[in-house]
Amino acid sequence: MKIFEVLLGFAISFIAFGVAAAQNATNSTYDVLQYVNQLIGSSNGGNIFPGATLPYGMAKAVADTDSGSNQGGFTTDGSNITGFSSMHDSGTGGSPSLGNFALFPYASCAGDDVDGCKYPKKERKTQFVDSSLQASPGYFGLELASGVQVDMTTAQHTSLFRFKFPATNSSGSASSPLILMDLTDLSDSRQDNGSISVDATTGRMTGNARFLPSFGSGYYVLYFCADFSGAPIRDNGIFANSRASADVKDLKISRSINGYPLPGGAFVRFESPGDTPVLARVGVSFISSAQACSSAEAEIPTFDFNATHTVAVNTWREKLSPITVSTTGIDASTLTNFYSGIYRTMVNPQDYTGENPLWQSSEPYFDSFYCIWDLFRSQLPFLTILDPSTVTRMVRSLIDTYVHEGWLPDCRMSLCKGYTQGGSNADNVLADAYLKGLTDGIDWTTAYAAVVQDAEVEPYDWSNEGRGGLDSWKRLGYIPVQDFDYKGFGTMTRSISRTLEYSYNDFAIAAMANGLGGLNTDVQKYLNRSANWQNLFKSDQTSFFNGADTGYVGFFQPKYLNETWGFQDPLKCSNIDTNPNSVCSLQNSGAETFESSIWEYAFFVPHDQATLITTFGGPAAFVDRLNYLHDNNITYIGNEPAFLTVFQYHYAGRPALSALRSHYYIPAFFQPTNDGLPGNDDSGAMGSFVAFSMMGLFPNPGQDVYLITPPYFESVSIKSPITNMTATIRNVNFDPTYKNVYIQNATLDGVPYSKNWIDHSFFTEGKELVLTLGATESFWGTNVADLPPSLGEYVGFGS
Ligand SMILES: *[C@@H]1O[C@H](CO)[C@@H](O)[C@H](O)[C@H]1NC(C)=O
Ligand SMILES: *[C@@H]1O[C@H](CO)[C@@H](O)[C@H](O)[C@H]1NC(C)=O
Ligand SMILES: *[C@@H]1O[C@H](CO)[C@@H](O)[C@H](O)[C@H]1NC(C)=O
Ligand SMILES: *[C@@H]1O[C@H](CO)[C@@H](O)[C@H](O)[C@H]1NC(C)=O
Ligand SMILES: *[C@@H]1O[C@H](CO)[C@@H](O)[C@H](O)[C@H]1NC(C)=O
Ligand SMILES: *[C@@H]1O[C@H](CO)[C@@H](O)[C@H](O)[C@H]1NC(C)=O
Ligand SMILES: *[C@@H]1O[C@H](CO)[C@@H](O)[C@H](O)[C@H]1NC(C)=O
Ligand SMILES: *[C@@H]1O[C@H](CO)[C@@H](O)[C@H](O)[C@H]1NC(C)=O
Ligand SMILES: *[C@@H]1O[C@H](CO)[C@@H](O)[C@H](O)[C@H]1NC(C)=O
Ligand SMILES: *[C@@H]1O[C@H](CO)[C@@H](O)[C@H](O)[C@H]1NC(C)=O
Ligand SMILES: *[C@@H]1O[C@H](CO)[C@@H](O)[C@H](O)[C@H]1NC(C)=O
Repeated sequence: MKIFEVLLGFAISFIAFGVAAAQNATNSTYDVLQYVNQLIGSSNGGNIFPGATLPYGMAKAVADTDSGSNQGGFTTDGSNITGFSSMHDSGTGGSPSLGNFALFPYASCAGDDVDGCKYPKKERKTQFVDSSLQASPGYFGLELASGVQVDMTTAQHTSLFRFKFPATNSSGSASSPLILMDLTDLSDSRQDNGSISVDATTGRMTGNARFLPSFGSGYYVLYFCADFSGAPIRDNGIFANSRASADVKDLKISRSINGYPLPGGAFVRFESPGDTPVLARVGVSFISSAQACSSAEAEIPTFDFNATHTVAVNTWREKLSPITVSTTGIDASTLTNFYSGIYRTMVNPQDYTGENPLWQSSEPYFDSFYCIWDLFRSQLPFLTILDPSTVTRMVRSLIDTYVHEGWLPDCRMSLCKGYTQGGSNADNVLADAYLKGLTDGIDWTTAYAAVVQDAEVEPYDWSNEGRGGLDSWKRLGYIPVQDFDYKGFGTMTRSISRTLEYSYNDFAIAAMANGLGGLNTDVQKYLNRSANWQNLFKSDQTSFFNGADTGYVGFFQPKYLNETWGFQDPLKCSNIDTNPNSVCSLQNSGAETFESSIWEYAFFVPHDQATLITTFGGPAAFVDRLNYLHDNNITYIGNEPAFLTVFQYHYAGRPALSALRSHYYIPAFFQPTNDGLPGNDDSGAMGSFVAFSMMGLFPNPGQDVYLITPPYFESVSIKSPITNMTATIRNVNFDPTYKNVYIQNATLDGVPYSKNWIDHSFFTEGKELVLTLGATESFWGTNVADLPPSLGEYVGFGS
């Protein structure tokens, strides 16, 4: 999802990250964590979460800034720090998510009076010392301009903040630090009746508040429990707006009448700690403050920063270790690009198992599928290789959400239903997991019922789940522009991209039906519907750019209920759309294509590239059109619909051109720098694009298909966490300057292999793929028999 970044186009990028000079890794063993740079995407609209978290952790601690692009909390764009909060999402567009319950420290209050400290976010925000910024797996830290050093690490539901205060203030008096906790979130969405209490003796703060989700419906209530350690407590109390008192220990605060949440919270003041740090342990829970307290006590019982940090470091190392590469000839920045992308695939979704107040269940519960429209394409397929047991739990969670909420989610955050962007793309996720053999507790019968419901039953509110326009879909075989739909309600736009996505969703259902057995009628029915994309193809449609004919004929077009054509310029909502008034996202006045153009959606027929190639006039014309899309910047690699287009040359028998495109986009648009992402990371969608591309296998998601290109390393090995077998891809004649990116021939487990794709057994059975590279395109992988599966028949190819 890319709601804002195109408009904002943040250009400022502060190089504030002191990368420790990576020691020169040998090609045999190295510590993967040295190649994780969490700050990639912290400016220029990447919106990543750069702070401390466990893989899929619920507690995510970081410094929050007042940037207009603070969706992930912290940014390196010169913005000021407003506080240190414990809940975040990563890479999202839309409004900032979470950022709840910020702490803020003062070494002392002016005049030694609690009213001498500043409480409202707008007044207290402050700069930090650029050179002090440090982020590494399980850790984030910086020094505020006031001289207070703040370090943080996390357990699953608990953040641990370490504050080191200057021993004296500027007038030489011993410090008397004050730490406040603000009942706030990043987007100031707090509703009525936030509450907080502070225990006079221990300083423990507990409370909760109701907030709004950042891209969805409803609200959520989050609870917390904060404890302090390290210095004797001097006094404590609450604050409201800009005034505080140690005489009051409980606060219940309204949102306020003018729509802006009043600042309110609590504070604890300490006797001078000298050089001893003060620790703040913040547990969070969606269930209760008591649960927040008990998680915190169980997870970080003794406020041991080093021990908590060490567990986080070891957990990350273990998660990232199944994938190793040869470092021969490779510079550290290439490795950093690769491993940082992989790291980001495990920040979101978040494991909220045991924290779901919405229903009782023994199934896992994951949240922050933000959004599946973004994640189905490569992030979840990537995790299916590297962390299949977690994907299995995510799939179980999706199915359990269907069981209890009635529908599979398309987007979900903060326990709320998120907005649907196109199809019911959880169907693709389930098919992908099914075809790749995930089992372990997944109820595939219920999963199948869930996807069939998406295809057959229209929800009343299809902006949150399922699909709209199902009567038309079944009767006419497309989603009409200006559909007559009285059964369910949603944003009546995107008729073309919804038709294309629904077609693919139906293919996913057919694939599951096929595998589950005994469902032959369903297989046929959904395969039939998966051909519906053809109903919007207008074979005589032309496309002009700035008055000049592009020369291409035949594009998808909107169609009315009465089966006559409407019109949308094929370049509308493309990266080179010259119309400043184009509306391309979820607005009511949006286009018939979501966040991209007809030009790009023209290629979104992932299940039937053969028929699409014929439709476009054969393989040469298809390649020509795909080149035009890329060469003229019609596509925008910073948004997910672009991903597959980089590799679709494989289907036209030109795998060499996929490799070439991949090497153009990386590094041109993906760099291991703070501003190194071309758009919102969308959880780790961009990260997974980088990881798959550099690994040399790119998935066609929803199918058991990986398209083969040469890895960016001499070799890549991936150990399957399920079977413990190690799959290896090795380049012979590897050239680190990437002139030799053309596969001349290949062997699989020693036997010549000419298919330009491979299936998931490569990973689970630990096969070895050896690619011999050369400097020119070859005939490898170009015959019809070598092409990836497609529903229709490949025609018009050489042999
Ligand atoms: C940050 O705060 C400083 C002073 O506290 C101010 O000069 C500066 O303009 C602020 N930066 C931004 C980006 O708002
Ligand atoms: C320094 O601390 C003393 C004692 O807490 C206080 O009276 C004084 O106002 C402080 N000075 C400044 C500049 O904050
Ligand atoms: C908030 O508290 C007030 C006063 O106790 C009460 O009247 C009101 O119903 C509460 N609002 C909500 C949304 O709980
Ligand atoms: C924890 O402390 C030990 C001993 O001082 C040190 O070797 C280790 O690096 C520390 N761990 C972390 C994550 O800082
Ligand atoms: C590892 O590096 C050594 C020395 O540079 C080289 O001889 C060897 O072939 C490399 N091995 C692999 C698997 O890349
Ligand atoms: C290894 O050292 C070489 C030469 O100093 C340097 O160019 C390269 O970036 C280093 N590689 C890694 C992986 O650190
Ligand atoms: C699939 O489509 C064909 C041709 O339109 C039709 O004959 C057949 O009945 C359809 N099958 C199902 C199960 O809908
Ligand atoms: C079909 O409907 C569209 C939109 O209402 C209208 O502009 C067009 O004239 C209709 N065509 C026919 C043949 O009725
Ligand atoms: C496409 O964009 C790239 C990078 O922004 C630029 O170098 C190139 O000139 C553009 N090409 C066209 C045809 O506009
Ligand atoms: C994989 O290795 C782990 C750790 O050694 C072991 O517990 C597990 O049983 C192994 N799995 C298989 C399928 O061999
Ligand atoms: C692969 O191609 C190279 C270079 O043309 C050749 O030397 C080698 O024998 C070929 N290997 C196979 C298995 O065809």
